Amino acid sequence: MRIVVVDANHPDPEIIREAALVLRNGGLVAFPTETVYGLGANALDASAVSRIYSAKGRPAWNPVIVHVASVETARLYTTDWPASAECLAQRFWPGPLTIVVPRADSIPDVVSAGGPTVALRVPAHPVAKALINAAGTPIAAPSANRYTQVSPTTAQHVVESLGERVPFVLDGGPCQVGIESTVVECGDDAVTILRPGMIDADSLGEAVAGLGIRVSDSRDVARHPIPRSPGTAERHYAPNADVWLFEPEEAGELAMALAARQEIGNEMTKSGESPPVALLRTPGLIGGANLLEVRMPEEPGDYARDLYAALHRADKIRAELLIIEMPPDGPEWAGIRDRLTRAAR
Ligand code: TXA
Ligand code: MG
Repeated sequence: MRIVVVDANHPDPEIIREAALVLRNGGLVAFPTETVYGLGANALDASAVSRIYSAKGRPAWNPVIVHVASVETARLYTTDWPASAECLAQRFWPGPLTIVVPRADSIPDVVSAGGPTVALRVPAHPVAKALINAAGTPIAAPSANRYTQVSPTTAQHVVESLGERVPFVLDGGPCQVGIESTVVECGDDAVTILRPGMIDADSLGEAVAGLGIRVSDSRDVARHPIPRSPGTAERHYAPNADVWLFEPEEAGELAMALAARQEIGNEMTKSGESPPVALLRTPGLIGGANLLEVRMPEEPGDYARDLYAALHRADKIRAELLIIEMPPDGPEWAGIRDRLTRAAR
């Protein structure tokens, strides 16, 4: 495996050319985006894309995102580019938004898991942009981790999860957004959030308000009984530890449950397991218990940036129990609450 450090803002063109050559020859390259690290392959080469699925151990029914350099290139890979898509692309690209639209014939089946749509994104990260341009082809890339594991926000996380399954890693330092892009499906009269992220429902709604279009959430089961983004259906983004989520007002109950658990643990093991790790926005919220307390940021942007590194660290020290104080229920926290809920499933 080759791991090459690049300057996040001014990547060395020589190194980018080397990585682009790997992609053009049908190989895989892990690279930073502003959200999480991606595991890239030439999106127009079906056998290259199938290598992504084997490296990740990802089931074939879960489609991958195609990364392109501009709105103009995105339009080449769809048969219909509705006004809502144009509007959102103009407002949020390059950036952490993925737009699902009808798939053009040039996109192989394997990219879309045989479905009629394709997910497109123009990433903002200079390394991702440089790589797409040098490869001269769209790049299919899911997050660069084994299936169901926590997404990587550093090159180290990529290596720990995929090991020798990834031949080439561009190390551009830690990702700034920290959780995966918001995924929306765009139609003529509707925009549906398939996966929440840091571009929230309110911002999307403001952007398309002029078109008279409203934004709805696919997790509103009354409206959308069939999940439309396969990857959002199950346990995902999950650390190895058991995860207990709690709202701040449940701290008292939680402390009691912990005390009971520790008593049972003491009877069963002489050595005593590693103490639970607690990710807290309110320091000292759980009194009494023997905990490894990790202070989490107040602001959603900072919280998202730090979250996966905190989950990866808990895995690294082999924590058996991870206790997480849920952040508030506002739209700006929806992506984070979604990932936390799925980590606990
Ligand atoms: O931020 C991100 O989106 C990162 C970076 C690398 O761009 N990528 C990422 O990819 O998170 P992945 O494969 O881990 O998640 C892609 C999500 C999955 O939930 C998948 O089911 C959904 O997007 N998806 C992909 N293509 C789709 C399609 N045609 N229709 C509906 N959902 C789709
Ligand atoms: Mg993923």
